[in-house]
Amino acid sequence: MKNKEVVAKAVFDVVKDDLTLEQVERLLENPKSAAHGDVAFPAFSLAKIYRKAPQQIASELAEKIDDTSFEKIEVVGPYLNFFMNKKQVSQEVLSTVIDQGEHYGDFNLGNDNNVPIDMSSPNIAKPISMGHLRSTVIGNSIALILQKVGYQPVKINHLGDWGTQFGKLIVAYKKWGTEEEVRNNPIGELLRLYVEFHEKAEEDPSLEEEGRAAFRRLENGEEEAVRLWQWFRAESLKEFDKIYNMLGITFDSYKGEAFYEDKMDEIVELLEEKHLLKEDQGAEIVDLSAYDLNPALIKKRDGGTLYITRDMAAALYRKRTYDFAKSLYVVGNEQSYHFKQLKAVLKEMGFDWSDDMHHIPFGLITKDGKKLSTRKGKVVLLEEVLNDAIQSAQDQIAEKNPSLENKEEIAKQVGVGAVIFHDLKNDRLNTFDFTLDEVVRFEGETGPYVQYTYARAMSILRKASFIPDKKKNYALDDADSWEIVKFIQGYPEMVLEAAEKYEPSVVAKHAIRLAQAFNKYYGNTRILAEDDQQEARLALVHVVTVLLKEDLHLLGLQAPERM
Ligand code: ARG
Repeated sequence: MKNKEVVAKAVFDVVKDDLTLEQVERLLENPKSAAHGDVAFPAFSLAKIYRKAPQQIASELAEKIDDTSFEKIEVVGPYLNFFMNKKQVSQEVLSTVIDQGEHYGDFNLGNDNNVPIDMSSPNIAKPISMGHLRSTVIGNSIALILQKVGYQPVKINHLGDWGTQFGKLIVAYKKWGTEEEVRNNPIGELLRLYVEFHEKAEEDPSLEEEGRAAFRRLENGEEEAVRLWQWFRAESLKEFDKIYNMLGITFDSYKGEAFYEDKMDEIVELLEEKHLLKEDQGAEIVDLSAYDLNPALIKKRDGGTLYITRDMAAALYRKRTYDFAKSLYVVGNEQSYHFKQLKAVLKEMGFDWSDDMHHIPFGLITKDGKKLSTRKGKVVLLEEVLNDAIQSAQDQIAEKNPSLENKEEIAKQVGVGAVIFHDLKNDRLNTFDFTLDEVVRFEGETGPYVQYTYARAMSILRKASFIPDKKKNYALDDADSWEIVKFIQGYPEMVLEAAEKYEPSVVAKHAIRLAQAFNKYYGNTRILAEDDQQEARLALVHVVTVLLKEDLHLLGLQAPERM
């Protein structure tokens, strides 16, 4: 039972006639300083009922309350401060985590229902950007968090593999590209061609029309266009997979925009049936003024379909395929308007399940204060960032622990972990400026710090050859371990908060604070001292490793046992 519940019951027993259990629980506070106990009850609200000063009420209540579950109850002015019985609580908490292991904090909120998560979704023939990295690691972590609370996540890479830009690319390749150059350096070369197209098109606008025509050939399934497109797609995917492998992230589906090409007629037909389509200067739109939104452009004047139309088809496909409980889109903040329109059009079509679609936005990464854009070829290559981080991890291991076995693999886990953690530790909506040094920093509130704390705790357990036993009574009553015990108690709530807010940073912050609390404990306490609480202290260390590892897991990081 939670400390607040225990206190609420004890208080309720003596104020039954005047307050409900819920009212008591709502009045309870968490004192800011440990000197004021673990839970406090302010007596103000009883002043009116009892017609007495709150101070007096507090003292009278303290007399009557059954204090067997508490170390002590102190009256400070109008407050009743409850000090939990540390031995009793720590014993309960430690045996629970020893028993449940990594499943501590699991819930069955989701009833195993599917939750498609649209994530990563880079565009073919362009490098994966830092923005796509954010979507990839945030999406992956949300998938792991939702799994923990009982959902079945389905990770979908909605590849940007369709649209007029592929017409442009085909034109550029045929004019200025060679097969060999694309083979040697697929994304670099395709990006170069794309950039060249835009530069030339500024002087020669007729290129734009050529590009559109080439895309129409692709839409019509003409052999050469389809062959080139498939080739660009396959080469791009190979490069993307390199990065996904480094990150250790997999997908359940790679159905991208092109997959919906033959599923859009149905969308247009449904819109027609419901008389929702309007003509506007030759284009087809859906009026969304009832939602305070600009009309959604469904079909262009030349008959070409659009991003939003493909997303409508994808949404319907996901509803039919997965019968989802909710459907998430982990996509940058700058597409908020798009997702508002998407949900509104589907709602207008009578699909009430569109209420279960949620855009999970995140902030932009800027570099030197400016937006990163691929059109001008200004882009931070993710692979380079990851490799630099791994190199930096390697350097630090060489310096600190040169005899470490399996150094390369651990450097990879640490370096990649540093990049992932850096991205997840701030509220996802925060915008941050990207500097390489910042990402590969290993001190402070970083992934390597958490990993290092985990490894250090594991080494203590190894040294002591400690094997936890859930049937034993491990009880602690010192102030430093108590801080950690309370932290462990709050773990399930933390998981729920992260799931409800779709916010991996809640987990990352927890990991940092737990690591800090543990390091403080480690600094103040002789864990291996040979006294009658040694086993209990080791049990606490064990439980800390279980939770740190689970935190790292929920964020998509590895937890090396030595580093
Ligand atoms: N490919 C898009 C981009 O890079 C992101 C796609 C997001 N997913 C979606 N279903 N629209 O901007």
